Amino acid sequence: MCGIIGYVGTRPCRDILFRGLRKLEYRGYDSAGISIIDGGRFKLLHSVGNLDNLEARLSELDGEGTVGIAHTRWATHGRPSNENAHPHTDCSGRFAIVLNGIVENYLSLRSQLQQEGHEFTSETDAEVVAHLIERAYRGSLRDAVAEAFRQMEGHFTYCAVAVEEPEVIVAVRKETPLVVGLGEGENYVASAIPAFLSETRRVIFPEDAEVVVVTRDSVEITSLAGDTVSRSPQIVDWDEEAAEKAGYETFMLKEIHEQPVALADTLAERVGPDGRVILEGLGLSFEALRSLRQVNIVACGTSYHAGLVGKYALERWARLPVEVEVASEFRYRDPVIGPGSLCLAISQSGETADTLAAMRLAREAGAHVVAVTNIVGSQATREAHGVLFTRAGLEIGVAATKTFLAQVMAMLLLALYVGQERGHLATEDVRGFTEELRRIPGLLRDYLEEGAAGRVEQVARRHTNSRFFLCLGRNISLPVALEGALKLKEISYIPTDAYAAGEMKHGPIALLEEGSPVLVVATDSCVYDKLISNVQEVKARGASVIAVASEGNVGLTDMAEEIFYVPRTHEMLSPLLSVVPLQLFAYYVAKHKGEKVDQPRNLAKTVTVE
Ligand code: AGP
Repeated sequence: MCGIIGYVGTRPCRDILFRGLRKLEYRGYDSAGISIIDGGRFKLLHSVGNLDNLEARLSELDGEGTVGIAHTRWATHGRPSNENAHPHTDCSGRFAIVLNGIVENYLSLRSQLQQEGHEFTSETDAEVVAHLIERAYRGSLRDAVAEAFRQMEGHFTYCAVAVEEPEVIVAVRKETPLVVGLGEGENYVASAIPAFLSETRRVIFPEDAEVVVVTRDSVEITSLAGDTVSRSPQIVDWDEEAAEKAGYETFMLKEIHEQPVALADTLAERVGPDGRVILEGLGLSFEALRSLRQVNIVACGTSYHAGLVGKYALERWARLPVEVEVASEFRYRDPVIGPGSLCLAISQSGETADTLAAMRLAREAGAHVVAVTNIVGSQATREAHGVLFTRAGLEIGVAATKTFLAQVMAMLLLALYVGQERGHLATEDVRGFTEELRRIPGLLRDYLEEGAAGRVEQVARRHTNSRFFLCLGRNISLPVALEGALKLKEISYIPTDAYAAGEMKHGPIALLEEGSPVLVVATDSCVYDKLISNVQEVKARGASVIAVASEGNVGLTDMAEEIFYVPRTHEMLSPLLSVVPLQLFAYYVAKHKGEKVDQPRNLAKTVTVE
């Protein structure tokens, strides 16, 4: 949450910083600000709301300053306002900082500093950093930043600049992202690579508690104590176009249409010529796989739903007991986990605070931890024993779509792999599933190219005034119903519940009245007949049914007001297709309600706070 960027070079940096912020806007859009060193002082600009508001006032920040820092905020401490917008400065106006994360002991630090005479102008936790640096400064910004870091608790990344050292940015991280971009005669620091991807692809990922001093010609990394640390640059091969809308009206719509590629890329090179699954990088030996006793999946939000798909697949194919839990609950339980447990931590960003905490707990208890993530170099990859990368490419829409599908693909591959290695699945069964998996990207591409979005839009348009939706599914389609409901909540703001269809009669059926829209995931499955009974039950209470069904199913035509047909596949792979009309439905309901689909209220793409 929150995006930060810093630039030091020879070019006037106002527009460079603003363009960088644009690429980070998915991380938060409650307020924004820029601070540039010019003529021996800071020029500061703050604005409330998203970056359009900052852009409208950019000309107020004139000058030729070539060093600066900028921030786009997702509010934690203090409501969105000019006062609470970053960058923050100290009492003397000599230091400015931007911070992503949370300073957990900020109240005690703040009261200490106030007793010493420091005056605060915001309600944020971040402002203490500027005052800590002011207090610690003895002629070296690097040392003052390190000293402030020693006194701070929590998880955060911050960048600082000082008018007395006008050619330097100092940055440091603790459990939240920081990446350095290496240019020619200029350098960058940022929360994420897209911030400077148009300028350079050479990056360095500093580790926690390493102090990074960046000038236009150098990047020096030292430990807190001052010992030199050597970190080699890496080249990122990200496609810059991925950070643009490429003709689509929103990132979310573009990303829905990129799902066939995300699936194909996540599958690529993971199926051998004999049809068996090849997964490298899990850090699990054959013996360790064979002696596994249980799987614990931890994740949040959409990633949790991908974990639920993983449960159905792992139980069926690998015959292992699987627990799936939202990370924020898991981390505060006393879970029964230890050697012999495989902990799968699913996180597209690899930075979600609760998921990282759950991983640490599992690791300390002796479990083997595998991160399933989309981001190379993310914190989850550093804390896990092994990594399974999804390859969805950059996702900017706050509501996850293509990363979900890639996670589901990763879960299915992992379940097949564990089943195959533990001898529960015969080679011909694995081959049957992997052949079918290979067909899916093409099926989905055809589905999208043949006008699926337009058909869903027509139905969605009629539902912009609905007051409530209910989503139902059974078995492996239950996570699909949950994910469809989450998408509706996130972007359309229409209250939506999701339930196991068989559970309806135990309470939620009381919600239904004449015309209540009920979305049912009714693709082919072993529980199809049971589900149809549940559809009859909701119909009998007056519900208006919108079904997702397998192509060619005519049995539902008398029961459903609307049917979104998806290509036929094996039921275990069906979430890869059946979730797509639900994503599109949520998208078009939100669009026709006039909501900002890519920037849903109160949300941020990466949740680095507890
Ligand atoms: C998905 O649409 C949401 N934005 C959110 O639920 C997200 O999936 C969750 O915050 C987890 O994020 P992660 O995958 O980066 O850990």
